[in-house]
Amino acid sequence: MSADKSFYLTTPIYYVNDAPHIGHAYTTVAGDVLTRWNRQKGEGVWFLTGTDEHGEKVMNTDKSNNVSPQQWCDRLVEEAWKPSWTALNIANDDFIRTTEPRHEMRVQRFMQLLKDKGFIYAGKFEGPYCIGCEEFKLPGDLDDGKCKVHGKPVENLSEDNWFFKLSAFVEPLLEHYKKNPQACEPTSARNEVIAFLESGVRDLSISRSTFDWGIPVPWDRDQVIYVWFDALLNYATAVGLGDEPDSDGGKKFAKTWPADVQLVGKDILRFHAVIWPAMLMAAGLEVPGKVFAHGWLLVGGEKMSKSKLTGIAPSDITDHFGVDAFRYYFLRAIPFGIDGSFSCEDMSARYTSELANEFGNLASRLIAMIEKYCDGVIPAVAHNSELAMKLAQTVDVADKAICALDFQGGINAIMDYCKRVNGFVTEQEPWAIAKDPARVEELNAVLYNTADSIRALAILLHPVMPSTTEILWESLGANTTLGPIGNQKIADVTKWGVLPAGSKVTKGAVLFPRLEEKLESN
Ligand code: MSP
Repeated sequence: MSADKSFYLTTPIYYVNDAPHIGHAYTTVAGDVLTRWNRQKGEGVWFLTGTDEHGEKVMNTDKSNNVSPQQWCDRLVEEAWKPSWTALNIANDDFIRTTEPRHEMRVQRFMQLLKDKGFIYAGKFEGPYCIGCEEFKLPGDLDDGKCKVHGKPVENLSEDNWFFKLSAFVEPLLEHYKKNPQACEPTSARNEVIAFLESGVRDLSISRSTFDWGIPVPWDRDQVIYVWFDALLNYATAVGLGDEPDSDGGKKFAKTWPADVQLVGKDILRFHAVIWPAMLMAAGLEVPGKVFAHGWLLVGGEKMSKSKLTGIAPSDITDHFGVDAFRYYFLRAIPFGIDGSFSCEDMSARYTSELANEFGNLASRLIAMIEKYCDGVIPAVAHNSELAMKLAQTVDVADKAICALDFQGGINAIMDYCKRVNGFVTEQEPWAIAKDPARVEELNAVLYNTADSIRALAILLHPVMPSTTEILWESLGANTTLGPIGNQKIADVTKWGVLPAGSKVTKGAVLFPRLEEKLESN
């Protein structure tokens, strides 16, 4: 492994049969928060997302829209997927599409390698297949002939296909999860994977012969590669899988592989925790550090999905609450790893109490007081050991939680600090101190300590709410004195007295406008 290895995080690549909904956004935002956090820790980071464009599911959508599959994918990627991520302020380093030549070429080369190594053989697949899941099913997976996940009838396949010797990797995989429990989290997900492996795993058909929307099997042009075999490889093809070590791709691979964190929804855990590492083991490659299965966003107690017409577009929420509140809410309200219902009422309540009243108000009160009592200039550096100690504890707890993908725990710790700072202002009553000119130093110290605490809060919340914290940074005058907020390091947050005295504050836009006002201005 290269010494300067980047922290490499991936999201699943999304099917382009439809536009993104908030379930897709949930994973992508989580990945964005963790990678932004790690960048602010000063680590090299590589963040990949993308689209899964082959297979029957996507092909059928194209047919029903009377366009070629490629035209359909191009349109959806450019008009729906990429713009959604831009709108949500996702700072991905790369976006892979499985129809790109860089992917197709490396997938074919990888498949040939496994064939040459003796892990691929010809066979016949007979059995049910769910196009919604793009998955070969067992009779036990069905309910009255229908897929339990999609509630729709399955296809009955009888095809001569190419098979991958998945069963040969059951023991190595069990060994892997025993030795490296952190490789599959949360624990419930790992237990599910272990139980599945222990129940016996059959070899996997990795090609299809009845349609042609896919990557051709390199030695058998009548077949296309099974969409999951093709899609899983994106994580490695995007960073140069199989390229010569001294080429650009080879160097990129050495710097990024293996992926450190792979985020997936729990419905696609087995593909990622069984098939994917087995494919890598067969090729003699390192397996990812961790696959983390998060829960589902539920609507009416069921997984929200476009196919069940319960899909909600991110813009339905961001138009009303704003992008940063969207990013904050889902990670704050739902423990990552567990299913969560959400409602507009809950989101409105948290928006008002946590974002507008707790955080936004603290910032606007401070700026208003510095304008009123200090001519808009940050007063002399002061120190408050109680706040400084609480901040050090906060950073410690938040860092451990966020790095363990406990976003809720991390955000809670930061918001607790925000509450503490609000409490400090209320207890100190700077507006009362200001009435006595003899207490000017005391007043300045209260305002400085509050301002430096807000500096810390802005940095800590920046990965979660990048635009709002940028506005706040600007109004603290910190952009001019300390440089862009994204460059501020988590390790420096606990240093007290960082915000330079003499910086000019400005009253910026209201960070979290009252929801009624937002509605009126829409
Ligand atoms: N294309 C495959 C993934 C291939 S990765 C090599 C796929 N795509 S998907 O678009 O159907 O789903 C992508 C991700 O979105 C999955 O992780 C899935 O769990 C997640 N979600 C889809 N609906 C969801 C919710 N209602 N809630 C949370 N996440 C959900 O599967």
